[in-house]
Amino acid sequence: MKILILGSGGREHALAWRMSQDDGVEEIYVMPGNAGMVGAKIKPILRNRTLSETREFCQKNQVAFVVVGPEKYLFEGWVDEFTQWGIPTVGPTKAAAKLEEFKTFSKNFMSDNKIPTARFFNVKTEAEALRAVDQAQGWAGIVVKLSGPALGKGVVVTETAAEAREVIQKFYADSSPGIEGGMVIEEKLAGREVSLFYACLDQEYRLIATACDHKRLLDGDQGPNTGGMGAISPAPWIDAEFLARAEEKIVKPTLSGMKKVGAPYRGILFIGLLGDSLLEYNVRFGDPETQTFLPLIEGHFTKFLYALARGDREEFNRIPLQTATAHSIHVVKAARGYPGVFGEVVESGKKIVPKTPKAKEGQHWFFAGVKQEQSDLVSSGGRVLGLTVWATNPAEARSKVYQELSAVKFEGEQFRTDIGGQK
Ligand code: AMP
Ligand code: GLY
Repeated sequence: MKILILGSGGREHALAWRMSQDDGVEEIYVMPGNAGMVGAKIKPILRNRTLSETREFCQKNQVAFVVVGPEKYLFEGWVDEFTQWGIPTVGPTKAAAKLEEFKTFSKNFMSDNKIPTARFFNVKTEAEALRAVDQAQGWAGIVVKLSGPALGKGVVVTETAAEAREVIQKFYADSSPGIEGGMVIEEKLAGREVSLFYACLDQEYRLIATACDHKRLLDGDQGPNTGGMGAISPAPWIDAEFLARAEEKIVKPTLSGMKKVGAPYRGILFIGLLGDSLLEYNVRFGDPETQTFLPLIEGHFTKFLYALARGDREEFNRIPLQTATAHSIHVVKAARGYPGVFGEVVESGKKIVPKTPKAKEGQHWFFAGVKQEQSDLVSSGGRVLGLTVWATNPAEARSKVYQELSAVKFEGEQFRTDIGGQK
């Protein structure tokens, strides 16, 4: 079986690596992929193709199915097109991807379906946003969220009404990307964050994994928000009752609600919770959560995804996805200057040494922002690479990941030293 993965980061590297271990998998193409994704069956294409070029590529190479990594392809409706052409694809339709694409849509959807979430106002104009701040009496703090895709810069958690007003005014003054669809003014919640990953086929779902991301740049959850600096899986502080509540109160009403609005959900649903409240939907695998939990999944993951892509209910429900009784931690190494929020330049072109890490039992390096330059592998993006280590308990995974982390280096690298430390 030949498979195509769309995307170029650590998440896509992890998907390719994990699927390459399943029986019957011949080749895994990653478009564009990156030059650090090496492996007997892994073939990064190293260039972007248009939708119609990708269709030709799939036909010429007899690709059995496609797995979509980043949300942008979902927002652009690639899954709808592939489905029309008879190419099975893992990912929701454009209509269903609105759960992530527009925060105002997802908050209305949550309240229509009585899904527990923070109190909020959906607003269109600056005046409405400022009025919402005045009405947010008794809230512990105010979170300002741009509705549309905002390159990870659309959420600001504020402590005071004055600060919230300042943020709103700045977003409107800058016409920030994502503001076209308005804003969500939301109550700040307290608690621990957790990411839950489900594979969903209309009304049926399977839990794939739980994880805890570390979004802030610096130790102790300080500094600016990033795409994620590391993760631990399973999430240490949740239990079977927590998961049962999440399924009853969030997953089931989400799937029935999507059917009601005429956009039945098929694909990966990644829900971010803070305590028992739903913070957000993502309509794809998480990065770096996927690099963290995939080594723990023991069943024939490729066949499972293929069943999901084809909508084969029987196979989808039958294939075991047992998780190893292990714990996994992933630590990201990012370039100096990342995430570039204070006008800092995110460095690139730094040589990665060595470019091919030694394979060791119970660990794997995943490459993200890297490219080939003559015979070197060099950095070319914010999150450059990361190491996953899995072990029988979290403490062991944690001590090993930090022992091994200097085995691959580049100048100016920054990483957190507290990933997976209990908070
Ligand atoms: P989002 O893009 O909605 O996931 O927001 C990015 C990050 O902002 C989340 O991972 C949280 O850490 C934080 N955040 C978002 N909404 C809230 C909220 N209502 N209360 C507290 N923190 C929040
Ligand atoms: N790690 C968070 C995300 O993938 O959105």
